Amino acid sequence: MAADSQKWILMATARAPTNIAVIKYWGKRDENLILPINDSISITLDPDHLSATTTVAVSPSFEKDRMWLNGKEIPLSGGRYQNCLRELRSRAGDFEDERRGIQIKKEGWNKLHFHIASYNNFPTAAGLASSAAGFACLVFSLAKLMNVKEELGQLSAIARQGSGSACRSLYGGFVKWTMGNEMSGRDSIAVQLANETHWEDLIIIVAVVSSRQKETSSTSGMRESVETSSLIQHRAKVVVPSRILQMEEAIRNQNFSSFARLTCADSNQFHAVCLDTSPPIFYMNDTSHRIINLVERWNRHEETPQVAYTFDAGPNAVLIAPNRKVASSLLQRLLFYFPPGPDNELHSYVLGDKTILQEAG
Ligand code: ADP
Ligand code: DP6
Ligand code: CO
Repeated sequence: MAADSQKWILMATARAPTNIAVIKYWGKRDENLILPINDSISITLDPDHLSATTTVAVSPSFEKDRMWLNGKEIPLSGGRYQNCLRELRSRAGDFEDERRGIQIKKEGWNKLHFHIASYNNFPTAAGLASSAAGFACLVFSLAKLMNVKEELGQLSAIARQGSGSACRSLYGGFVKWTMGNEMSGRDSIAVQLANETHWEDLIIIVAVVSSRQKETSSTSGMRESVETSSLIQHRAKVVVPSRILQMEEAIRNQNFSSFARLTCADSNQFHAVCLDTSPPIFYMNDTSHRIINLVERWNRHEETPQVAYTFDAGPNAVLIAPNRKVASSLLQRLLFYFPPGPDNELHSYVLGDKTILQEAG
């Protein structure tokens, strides 16, 4: 290759929102392929507040694959990044830019290296599903760069191998991750149940209780649960399958009472499994418990549930209101009991909406 031909660089940028599960994924049947022990359902959130933005670059002058997360270089040695890169390279298409004299054949991508820079506009590894936004964005931006012509479902199966929850962030709106049966994991993909225009009145409020990195990552937490909890098997085999059907129906019919009951119950059972793990894992803290109490007291006071709460693997609360009126009443109550401030338990509130994956740059 001539010296000049070493000078080019190609780039692609994407932004992917995070998603919050209302029926949780917790537990794998295959650690390497990231295959879950149950289906899960989530809502994809607003990228202005909760998203990852990733720029990927390729150049013949790059000597190895490198990645920077929030400005700090991180090792790409972990199998997850390598698995995603391998899957994408094997599906890459031809690329040609006649004006700049760049031609990359399908097989040529195997010899090229990538530089990847990603930023999250919300706390990383704090239980707000940064791995979901992060790996969805990584896969989407690399697929764009490498001219990968696959359906979103197939891309979701690649993102899944980065982080399970990431497969659901490739779609907006309401999304189901079907666990699949095949050993290869080919049928363990995300499908869109309804797009972001469905059930438009829903308002999501994220209460950031702590932006500190959690002590137990989701990956090791769920591994310990699978190894030591007996409740987890009952949950995966008996409880979740029927909840999935009920949740799909609640979403289809926009039945908020049913949606809220299922969402709260599933969050609580997921945290019960964490407590049933040995040694027990505490993702929620006192503030999280006080938020649950506030919502439960309010819901019990009314004929039907007003608000749903759900907590991922961290103390931060995701609260879902059926409309603006209830959302503003919820915010008033939250601000009264938990005024945000540097010395207070609660840092900030983020108002959210359902959304779609966006291409940027
Ligand atoms: P969370 O609850 O935030 O999803 P996890 O423990 O599941 O926490 O995952 C955190 C890990 O996800 C990080 O340590 C990092 O390896 C990966 N991650 C987070 N954000 C990104 C990103 N934008 N791009 C690539 N990987 C990311
Ligand atoms: C509690 O997808 O972060 O957020 O697959 O090991 O990367 P890995 O775990 P991750 O787990 C998410 C767990 C959860 C529930 C959910 O998002 O469904
Ligand atoms: Co995660």
